[in-house]
Amino acid sequence: MHILITGGAGFIGSNLCEKLLQEKHRIICVDNLLTGCEKNITHLKENRNFTFLNHDVIQPLEIAEKIDAIFHLASPASPNHHSKLSYHTLAMETMLVNTQGTLALLKLAKKHQAKFLFASTSEIYGNPKVHPQKETYNGNVSPVGPRSIYDEAKRFGETLTFHFFRKENVDARIARIFNTYGPHMLVEDKRMIINFIIEAIAGSTITIYGDGRQTRSLCYIDDMTEALSRLMFYSKTAGEVVNIGSNNEHTVLEYAQMVKEIACSKSDIRLTEPLPQDDPEKRRADITKAQHLLDWKPTITLETGLKKTINYFRKIV
Ligand SMILES: NC(=O)c1ccc[n+]([C@@H]2O[C@H](COP(=O)([O-])OP(=O)(O)OC[C@H]3O[C@@H](n4cnc5c(N)ncnc54)[C@H](O)[C@@H]3O)[C@@H](O)[C@H]2O)c1
Repeated sequence: MHILITGGAGFIGSNLCEKLLQEKHRIICVDNLLTGCEKNITHLKENRNFTFLNHDVIQPLEIAEKIDAIFHLASPASPNHHSKLSYHTLAMETMLVNTQGTLALLKLAKKHQAKFLFASTSEIYGNPKVHPQKETYNGNVSPVGPRSIYDEAKRFGETLTFHFFRKENVDARIARIFNTYGPHMLVEDKRMIINFIIEAIAGSTITIYGDGRQTRSLCYIDDMTEALSRLMFYSKTAGEVVNIGSNNEHTVLEYAQMVKEIACSKSDIRLTEPLPQDDPEKRRADITKAQHLLDWKPTITLETGLKKTINYFRKIV
């Protein structure tokens, strides 16, 4: 199949490019390197089935060859206010890529009669009042809160995707992605698990925002790319919204302790930084739907995933 992946030089996108290339698909990776990194795809460029286009997907895209499927993953994704790559810093880019960019890509999908997958997020549930979150929960999001640039843009991206499914005959689906981790994350992203790993490797203090009792459920990247691929290509997935993530919930403090232990680090753990406004207290995917529809559930244990990720960062930092 001929597959276009936007955000293909980013964390999830580059891992997805790699997986689908291994399965002998032709991959067109489109990325403007806003928060991604060319190093993530350098090793793929030798493969003649791989093409990289440096393009901002907010602008319309013409592709001469026939495209069978489009994964729209392009978007800043880090919530950390301290990162120059976060969606707070890149507010306008984030709002536009998930709205105007999604519209441009849905039009491309229609033109090519291609399948379409929109990478949405667990953040559309906001600070959830229902736990764990099922796809039927409509969320608790402030339209003007600090995270609204990301949450509301993703929500409108979902609306556009469903409009094209209902009215424009596009074979579209939505993945609501929960926290994911693994190789090819960028240090500059400053997402929680990377911060912990970098601090643990360096032996410096592991800093936790808030009291550390807020919970997260982390999915290893290989489980994520497998689920995204199934959601795109399995039958009966058109018009479906599916949570993809881990349902193995831990407190942030427990993650810090696990990273410290697996990295054999002597770092202290400090609970000093204030919790950012709108930081969700709880996040856990209800993945019952993915289990039934995709016959999928995460298979990589937290210990194995953390070991692989720590080994990757030991090599690159
Ligand atoms: N990683 C997670 O835990 C997570 C959780 C929920 C949702 N998601 C979603 O999954 C997708 C991928 O996330 P990620 O973690 O790989 O992020 P990432 O920042 O590593 O990758 C995103 C990629 O999109 C590219 N990009 C951004 N704007 C672009 C534009 N206008 N044109 C072309 N390319 C553009 C960036 O350069 C980057 O390579 C995003 O849509 C994100 O919202 C990720």
